[in-house]
Amino acid sequence: MPKVTFLAKNKKIEAKQGETILQVATKARVFISQRCGGKASCALCKVMIKNHNDDPLFPPEEKELRLISNEQLNQGIRLACQARIKGNVEIAPMENKLQSIVQAQLEKQQRESEL
Ligand code: FES
Repeated sequence: MPKVTFLAKNKKIEAKQGETILQVATKARVFISQRCGGKASCALCKVMIKNHNDDPLFPPEEKELRLISNEQLNQGIRLACQARIKGNVEIAPMENKLQSIVQAQLEKQQRESEL
């Protein structure tokens, strides 16, 4: 059985091949943002697959491809509600965009105040 590791919580759980990441996260009690109930319409459930070069997931299907660009796929980003587990996989949450923007702004102000 494939092992799924949720890096943010350092939680490992066994999964059945073909289960979605969201299904396994629910079993593991790991929270993944979502608003559409796993119907591939909100795009809030994006996660980062850390070992995506090992090909641990089945290829994306049409529903997922509507919400994920090729560039994102190449970076290892997948929809948790659609991505189906094939082998051992390591999953990290997506970085919070707002948090990144605020952090970048704070760093910029810090640099400017040091001049
Ligand atoms: S849960 Fe909404 S797109 Fe995945």
